[in-house]
Amino acid sequence: MNKISKAPTNDFCPQTLFLYGTYDEEGRPDFGLFCWFSYIWDTELGVMACIGGDKLTKENIHKQKVFSACLVTEALLPLADYLGTTDGHSPDKMKPVTGIEKGRVLPVPVLTDSPVVFELEVKQFLPMDDGEVMLCAIRNVLQDESLDGEAVTSTEKLAAIAPVSTTCERYFAWNGGNLGAWGEPAKKFISSGR
Ligand SMILES: Cc1cc2nc3c(=O)[nH]c(=O)nc-3n(C[C@H](O)[C@H](O)[C@H](O)COP(=O)(O)O)c2cc1C
Repeated sequence: MNKISKAPTNDFCPQTLFLYGTYDEEGRPDFGLFCWFSYIWDTELGVMACIGGDKLTKENIHKQKVFSACLVTEALLPLADYLGTTDGHSPDKMKPVTGIEKGRVLPVPVLTDSPVVFELEVKQFLPMDDGEVMLCAIRNVLQDESLDGEAVTSTEKLAAIAPVSTTCERYFAWNGGNLGAWGEPAKKFISSGR
């Protein structure tokens, strides 16, 4: 393989997408879309998440120290893309969003239609120049009951929930198919009257 050097980029490195759910001080829910998310180990499984710049999600997490991370599936993508391309400070952002419930262990908003949800408590904030890394303990994993049991293989379960990945500023289906550029699926959400 003949390689060429590039400026820092994660193109061609697909990432799994999550919607982070937070409450503000008045108990109003907000969701944003995030992909800088992975796992850590420190006597038990944990999560690391990076948020860049100033965002309502970040402000809420600073105040509450807890948030949810809801796995994005193909069915959720139009909503997810809308939530990732609309600033939480816009007062109407959450008006069209339905299907929100509360976490079972932590006071975090959770999307009913996401089949896998982490309830996360931030143990350490690592502020940098513009971004911030948060190291989190997983206080609960909410999983759709269809993902339990041995009758269906994990391959079939993954195909059924169809998690979305992203790279090159595009979305990709579980089977690798093209789901559009960032900002495109949101148009479906907006034109469907939400
Ligand atoms: C595909 C996609 C992935 C994103 N991933 C991140 C991320 O990992 N970290 C981040 O800081 N912002 C990320 N964003 C931007 C946030 O989703 C966006 O700023 C959103 O407005 C945050 O919600 P809030 O304004 O309600 O806090 C991403 C956006 C898109 C479209």
